[in-house]
Amino acid sequence: MEGANAQINEKAIGLSFLEDTPPAPLPLPPPSTEVFSTKVSSSVKFTIDPINLGGLTLLKGRVNTKEVLGLSESDLVPGVYEGGLKLWEGSLDLVKTLQSEIRNGNWSFTGKRVLELGCGHGLPGIFACLEGAAVIHFQDFNAEVLRCLTIPNVNVNLSKASHSEPTSEIRYFAGDWSQIHQLLAHVHDNGKDLQSSSKPHQVAGYDVILMAETIYSNSANQNLYGLVKKCISRPHGIVYMAAKKYYFGVGGGTRQFLSMVEKDGVMTSSLVADIADGSSNVREIWKLSLK
Ligand SMILES: C[S@@+](CC[C@H](N)C(=O)[O-])C[C@H]1O[C@@H](n2cnc3c(N)ncnc32)[C@H](O)[C@@H]1O
Repeated sequence: MEGANAQINEKAIGLSFLEDTPPAPLPLPPPSTEVFSTKVSSSVKFTIDPINLGGLTLLKGRVNTKEVLGLSESDLVPGVYEGGLKLWEGSLDLVKTLQSEIRNGNWSFTGKRVLELGCGHGLPGIFACLEGAAVIHFQDFNAEVLRCLTIPNVNVNLSKASHSEPTSEIRYFAGDWSQIHQLLAHVHDNGKDLQSSSKPHQVAGYDVILMAETIYSNSANQNLYGLVKKCISRPHGIVYMAAKKYYFGVGGGTRQFLSMVEKDGVMTSSLVADIADGSSNVREIWKLSLK
């Protein structure tokens, strides 16, 4: 499986904190934009491989990073390309965990509004769609990832599963976590956070936020968590988060992220699954909800 043992490319992410010089500032993020499914790329070569996930077969598209972004094979270039073209193992862990949550009667996607943050291939969002979610919005940093990979990948998976048009509302949004709330359809209070809201019981936002391998960068985690709080439905919204316990070389990971959440005091977290199969460091699935 591509990316199965991938660690974030230490050279690409610039381990300059280990050197004397301070890290170079990131470039300004690209402007946020909605990418319409009609804007799917037809010029980039897209091939598919099947992946078996506990009896469920999903399709995994494959594109060439150089062809899509003009970058040579690289996991990630901070502030330019944030890894969406590669399939990371956390998204497979997340789909498998969601399958068992549904099987055990702990969860259902039926009729839910779903947001997948940092989607890349979008397999968790695709799974939500197959399980009857009413709305699935996919977000990635790079519009090119959505155009060349996510949209075709959603299309091939959904057309394999059904011969009729999907009944879910599916939309795609590109942009940085610090800004994308301005475009997302189900954000409450135009970005005011939960504690400052004058309508704490307002039902809006997404019923569930899915995210896999999004918390590797401590510098981005504050914006990501801020976005989650702006988007999550109150009072019953849930976040399912797949991530490594620790991302070597970058300093992010579940411990760092959850300590920020705990200090903030607005959300609570519980471990749903951990995967220590010896293939990489420990991977975990966490569930976050509002207190
Ligand atoms: C390591 S990839 C994981 C992709 C996919 N979830 C998977 O598991 O295969 C990280 C994802 O987070 C998104 N991302 C990272 N930093 C971001 C930022 N600052 N703003 C918006 N999206 C970001 C990237 O575009 C990418 O989709």
